Amino acid sequence: MFYGVQATNQVVFYLLIISVQQSSQSSITETLLDSESARPIVHTPSGSFRGLEAQDGDYSMFLGIPYARVDPDNVFGPSIPIGFEGTFEAVEDTVRCPQVEEYNNTIMGKLDCLHINIFVPNSASIDNYLPVMIHIHGGRFQFGCAARDVHGPRFIVRHDVILITVNYRVGPYGFFCLNTPKVPGNQGLKDQVQALRWIKENIRYFGGDDSKITLGGNSAGSMSVDLLQHFLQEPLYNRVILQSGVLLTNGVIQHPDPDAPLKLSKQLNHITNDINDALSFLSRVDPHELIAATRDSGMIVGPCVENQFENVDNYITKYPTNMSSVRNVDVLIGFNNDEFFDKTITMQKEDFESRDFVSENLEDNYDFKNESHLSDEIKDIVRKFYYGDNPNSADNRRPGMNIIADFFMYNPVLRTVKKYLDSGVENMYFYMFSYLGDRSFSKYKCNTSHIKGGAAHGDELGYLFDVSYLKELLHDEDMLIVDRMTEFWTNFAKYGNPTPKPSKLIPLQWPRVSQDKLPYLEINTELRLGSRPMHERMSFLDLLYKHIGRYHKEHLWTGQ
Ligand SMILES: *[C@@H]1O[C@H](CO)[C@@H](O)[C@H](O)[C@H]1NC(C)=O
Ligand SMILES: *[C@@H]1O[C@H](CO)[C@@H](O)[C@H](O)[C@H]1NC(C)=O
Ligand SMILES: *[C@@H]1O[C@H](CO)[C@@H](O)[C@H](O)[C@H]1NC(C)=O
Repeated sequence: MFYGVQATNQVVFYLLIISVQQSSQSSITETLLDSESARPIVHTPSGSFRGLEAQDGDYSMFLGIPYARVDPDNVFGPSIPIGFEGTFEAVEDTVRCPQVEEYNNTIMGKLDCLHINIFVPNSASIDNYLPVMIHIHGGRFQFGCAARDVHGPRFIVRHDVILITVNYRVGPYGFFCLNTPKVPGNQGLKDQVQALRWIKENIRYFGGDDSKITLGGNSAGSMSVDLLQHFLQEPLYNRVILQSGVLLTNGVIQHPDPDAPLKLSKQLNHITNDINDALSFLSRVDPHELIAATRDSGMIVGPCVENQFENVDNYITKYPTNMSSVRNVDVLIGFNNDEFFDKTITMQKEDFESRDFVSENLEDNYDFKNESHLSDEIKDIVRKFYYGDNPNSADNRRPGMNIIADFFMYNPVLRTVKKYLDSGVENMYFYMFSYLGDRSFSKYKCNTSHIKGGAAHGDELGYLFDVSYLKELLHDEDMLIVDRMTEFWTNFAKYGNPTPKPSKLIPLQWPRVSQDKLPYLEINTELRLGSRPMHERMSFLDLLYKHIGRYHKEHLWTGQ
């Protein structure tokens, strides 16, 4: 009876839902199978979307749904919400926002990119609304995308949750941060908020439970989630998953170069001193040219603290590392046990040995001003802690690997756990992923399977998503890790608890974190409950922080 129905307003649709409730228990997408195309179709107040049936599982795909559009008159400014009259063919997920592709260094993408992909299990029905998991991709706010070839949904949707992946603007289009009301900064993050609003308003029409929305991300995606935890006022999600990325990592918040548009214009042979002239020039150049100019200039753009203007929506208004209050939701947080393995193992011997990891990391995090005596003393202590009396040698890279990972990831993540607890978060679970198998990113990227190491940055993703370029599952062990990871993650999305009851697959209960105990689950072929990960190194860094925290850059930050 719904075939061809165009529900353009909510009232009509509620009537449809009520009549379905009375008549059947069949899948939403089945019920709404389009008679002509035999393809799933969903009607929402924001438009109708005709998707595809998946070939590798019992689910439907709605690909490339535009949740907003880039303002053609202000491509560096906030995006505009959109709706559709008629039916949108939701079949294309390969569009990404303009960027340099991560692995092959080619420039790709277009500005019509503010899309989400929605993957709906056939078990979703009017009588069976399913929990929703949203995943925000990483990529240093410079690259990345929501496409299926890196976020294949089949392992997750078989657990009866809806998965949504999100594109947002990256690089200059997402993160120009200027002292002008038209381009106040953080456009890419504001895109994410637009996507969350769209999902909250529309997901029930796809069979999603809008009271069980879990927002997750990895790396810069996880930093984005941490930012939302600090700054988002609207209740657009119920749980969060933070995978290897937090704001306490120094350098997430950039100190913007207000002349960035002038410099990039000049590089593209348009010389001007007028910022508005530069912006209007840059908004007309081919996005690939601007991305190339940004890359060639070495300019880094990213999240920033915004200047405030009258009648302009702000997002990040304060320096977040010092903010003590975050949203009290269920939290799943953790990291991999060898985050910088791939980065350090692939360095040439000479490069590796010429680096001074102690000075670099101390200076990244601390500013000793003119107290060079103190700086030398502290460096000496840190060096002895990590190296003993040994030199930094390519034959033993372990100390260097640990220093980077500790300063950049492990200590900031663990301090974030404390911050969340202090802020009143009660239901929080901590993991450490340590499995290394054939679906690990680092192996694929570095071809280092012959060198002993742990799980590097991003390695967990191949066990949550069906990444097309990783080998097909070769052995049972990889599949076991996929089964466990997706069971933990989807249980958390359903119940706010990754192990609601012991099973054959997961014969244990994962305790939550508290003020005095920091239990964690080590995820590997053996599941192991540990307590306070890397506690010796972390206690050393905590002591250091306690002692010289006044020199820590987060305390010295002087911005607008
Ligand atoms: C680079 O990678 C992207 C994403 O996988 C692909 O679509 C594109 O064709 C590749 N380009 C080249 C030149 O290999
Ligand atoms: C990966 O490393 C192995 C062993 O060092 C080598 O034999 C092989 O050719 C490498 N593969 C690629 C694609 O570089
Ligand atoms: C951050 O907090 C410290 C300690 O409370 C304070 O001294 C510092 O001024 C704060 N920094 C900013 C940027 O708010």
